[in-house]
Amino acid sequence: MKLYIINGPNLNMLGIREPDKYGKQSYDYLLTLIRDKCERIGVTPVFFQSNHEGALVDKIQEAYFEGADGIVINPGAYTHTSIALLDAVSATSLPCVEVHISRVEEREDFRQISYIRRACVATITGKGLDGYLEAIDILVNKSYES
Ligand code: DQA
Repeated sequence: MKLYIINGPNLNMLGIREPDKYGKQSYDYLLTLIRDKCERIGVTPVFFQSNHEGALVDKIQEAYFEGADGIVINPGAYTHTSIALLDAVSATSLPCVEVHISRVEEREDFRQISYIRRACVATITGKGLDGYLEAIDILVNKSYES
């Protein structure tokens, strides 16, 4: 099973940016965490992070053309603005789980809209980096189907 793990703007700044909201661990630590889990369960992760919307669209399309089995995505602030990311995920028909490190539903009004959510089989918020691991479990176990 091959899963694309896509992170949007500023997630490369994990550990530096607002640690009270996003924790003290770095983006590299996140990759190690995911890589270790994937190794244990026999999943091949493909990692990507970009601060650019179009690059994220390109990567979502690549997931389709490269035969990925699913996508885990934290679109960062593009969650709240990007119809292009919604359309990209919809175009692929791949199962996609939306992850947010912080509990977005308890934050500012402008974070209450998620465009991409309509194309996602599940959303995980407020679980820190473990949210990504939970997203992988959802895709591996196809628990969104039940
Ligand atoms: C975030 C929440 C977004 O509102 C914010 O813009 C981010 C990170 C999260 O992981 O909690 O960049 O997606």
